[in-house]
Amino acid sequence: MKKIIILFSGEGSNLQNLIEQLHLKHCEVIAAITNRPKAGGIVKAKSFNIPVTIIDHTHFESREAFDTVLVEHIKAYDADLVVLAGFMRILTPLFTLHVKAINLHPSLLPKFKGAKAIERSFESDEREGGISIHWVSPELDGGAVIAQGSFEKSEDETLESFTCKIKELEHTLLPETIIELLK
Ligand code: GRF
Repeated sequence: MKKIIILFSGEGSNLQNLIEQLHLKHCEVIAAITNRPKAGGIVKAKSFNIPVTIIDHTHFESREAFDTVLVEHIKAYDADLVVLAGFMRILTPLFTLHVKAINLHPSLLPKFKGAKAIERSFESDEREGGISIHWVSPELDGGAVIAQGSFEKSEDETLESFTCKIKELEHTLLPETIIELLK
């Protein structure tokens, strides 16, 4: 069975969804890594007996120093793919050039790269919202797109309803894409 590592920073709804849909069915989730000691996803991963490593980025003097330790941890495992699922860090080439990784981004790239993509895409004049899964490359949210999903904004769309639609899409498209990539 192929092995994946999941990186996350927050609530970990995608982390939990990936574990539930994929772990020991389509691949093995061998580890989860977070940069935030209080990330909600830590409890979620542990409840499935997935080993969690916390690498607190505030303890490092530079992005490069953090990335060096992060890559060391990843390389200690023999993973086929690293999945960034809500991992909120700008990564340096020390990571992007040395780790085979995909990223989940809540917009139709190349639109709305970077932070607050959901809010910016909701507030924009765009008629549709969506998500992208792309290869991690040195350019932030700029690597080759692997899969995208979209939906029409409704007349009475609120930020909450828009966010729900994004999450629903993420919870379907990300596991499907990982299954395809691991074939
Ligand atoms: C997702 O919307 C993802 O696209 C973005 O961060 C969010 C993570 O949510 N990069 P969760 O931690 O998986 O609930």
